[in-house]
Amino acid sequence: MTSVTSAPEGFLWGAATAGHQIEGNNVNTGHWVNEYSPGTQIPEPSGDACDSYHRYPEDIALLAGAGLTAYRFSLEWARIEPEEGVVSRAQLAHYRRMIDTCRSHGVEPIVTLHHFTFPRWWDRDGGWYSPRATARFERYTEIASTILDDVDWVITMNEPNMMINQSEARIDTENGVNFPGPSPHVARATAAAHRASMEVLRRHGKNAGWTVANQVFQAVPGWEDQRDEWQYWREDFFLEQARDDDFIGVQSYLRTIIGPTDDDLGYGPQPWPDTAERTLTGWEYYPEALGHALRHTRRVSGDIPMIVTENGIATADDPRRIHYTTGALKALADAIADGIDVRGYLHWSLLDNYEWGSYRPTFGLIAVDRETFARSPKPSLGWLGDLARRNVFPADGEHAPEFAGARAGTA
Ligand code: FCB
Repeated sequence: MTSVTSAPEGFLWGAATAGHQIEGNNVNTGHWVNEYSPGTQIPEPSGDACDSYHRYPEDIALLAGAGLTAYRFSLEWARIEPEEGVVSRAQLAHYRRMIDTCRSHGVEPIVTLHHFTFPRWWDRDGGWYSPRATARFERYTEIASTILDDVDWVITMNEPNMMINQSEARIDTENGVNFPGPSPHVARATAAAHRASMEVLRRHGKNAGWTVANQVFQAVPGWEDQRDEWQYWREDFFLEQARDDDFIGVQSYLRTIIGPTDDDLGYGPQPWPDTAERTLTGWEYYPEALGHALRHTRRVSGDIPMIVTENGIATADDPRRIHYTTGALKALADAIADGIDVRGYLHWSLLDNYEWGSYRPTFGLIAVDRETFARSPKPSLGWLGDLARRNVFPADGEHAPEFAGARAGTA
C-alpha cells in the first residue's frame, strides 16, 4: 500500500536555475572569457544556453502550470554592474520583470544574488584577493536590493565552498567535477562578503542566507579524524558561518567517502565501487544523501530554518529522475519528522541547462531543444507539481515506477 506524509503548511515546492546556465550570451563574465579562450580546458562553451534571458515568461509559466509554487533564479552581477561602479538600470528592470512574472503566477521568487559568475572587471582586479572584495559585494547587494522590495527570500551567494575552487576545477565526465584543495584565505574572504551582504539585506527586511554544497563526507572505518580534517575547509567552515543567518540553503546530490590514498597526504576521496550506478555527471546514484545533508547541516549550523535549494540527478532517463527524487523526498520527510525545520524543496533544475562545461548532464524537469530552444516538459515536472498541489511527500516508493536499467547494489 502506498502512503504519503503531509508537508508542513506553506512548504515551498519549486525548481532552481542559475543565470549563466540558462540565460545565454553572458559575455561580460570571466566564465565566458574562459570558455572561449584559445586552448581552454572547458569542453563546451555556454553560447545561447537556454535563451531564458528572453524566454523566462515561458519557463515561469510552465513551472507554475505544473503546480510548483517557488522559483529560484539568480541575478547576473556582470549585467547589472557591467563596469565597476556603472549600474545598468535596464538590466535591473529585466530582473524586476522576472520577479513580477513570478508574482503574477502566484510563484514565490527566491533570488540568488551571486551564482558562481563574476563580471570581467572583478577578475581583472584581484577577485577574492582584492582588499576591496567585501566592499564590492556589499555595494552590489545595495544595487540589487533596489528591485527586491517584495522578495522575502534572498541568497547572497551560491555554494561558496565550490565557487572558490571553480577556476581550478577539472571537468571529467567519467568521474564528475573534480575540485582541488580549498584556500582558507579565500574562504574567509567569501565569509566577510557574505556578512556584509547579510547586513544590507536585513536592513531591507529580507530573510537572507547562503547555500552550501553538502557533500555527505563518510569515513572508511578508522578514518574519521581524517574525514573531519578533509571536510572542514570544504564544507563545515561554510556551515558555521550560517549560524546567525535567517536560513541556510542545503544543496545535495551525492556522498564522498574518505579513506586511505597513495598520494602525499595519504587520505582523500575513495573511488566509487565498480558496481555503483553512476549518473551522467559520473556521480554515484545515492538519493539518501539529502537526509544526511540536512542532519549534518543542523549539527554544524544549529537549529536555523533550512530550504533545500538544490537536489536532483543528471540522467537521460526521466523515470530514474522520479525514482531518485522520491528517495530524496522520503529522506527529507524523515528529517522533518525528526524536528528539522525545512521550509521548502527546490529541484535542480527546471531546465536541461549548461552544466559548467557541458550540456551533456541533463538535470532538467523540462527538456530544451538546443537549436530551437523549444521547451518540452518531462513527466517528472508533472509528478513533482502533483506532490506540490497535494502538499505531500511520497513515501514507500509512491510514483517510483519500475526502472528497467536498475542494477543490483545501488541506492
Ligand atoms: C551545483 C551548482 C549548480 C549545478 C549543480 C549540478 O553545485 O550550484 O549550478 O551545476 O551543482
